[in-house]
Amino acid sequence: MKKFNEVTLSLTVAIIDFLYRGRDYQRFWVLEEIARAPYFAFLSVLHLRESLGLRGPEHLYLMKEHFAQTVNETEHLEYMESRGGNRYWIDRAFARHLVLIYYWVNVAYYWVAPRSAYHLSYEVEVHAATTYAKYLAINGHDDKILEILNDELKHGNELLKAMEMI
Ligand SMILES: [Fe+2]
Ligand SMILES: [Fe+2]
Repeated sequence: MKKFNEVTLSLTVAIIDFLYRGRDYQRFWVLEEIARAPYFAFLSVLHLRESLGLRGPEHLYLMKEHFAQTVNETEHLEYMESRGGNRYWIDRAFARHLVLIYYWVNVAYYWVAPRSAYHLSYEVEVHAATTYAKYLAINGHDDKILEILNDELKHGNELLKAMEMI
């Protein structure tokens, strides 16, 4: 599944990069909108598992982690909004349709193959960190973007830890 994750992500990223060339903050906004969905999906599945009496020892830890990640991703989203990332309806429409699909894909993926679902999100986080690093290399220092970059690396490490737990 790792190869499948990498190929799917590379293809999606290539399409988004092509569509959003020269429009950094709109691209970041779309990516942040999408990046939040897996954490909602993980929480949804964990809630459902709990309701069905399938709560494991790692359950509470994972719920707290994924809740903190959703909040943090929403902070990133709000920052991109403050920079005009969601100014145009076409970007909002694109991201919101994509996120609906991505949310349900992640619900199903996490239910049947949680490690693989975590791996996909890990790859997304690594891609996000790389994207912000490239932006900084071209546009110079930006404290807020650097902070967000570090958050994405932290999310990646948290996902690696979660992968080992389940
Ligand atoms: Fe983010
Ligand atoms: Fe992230």
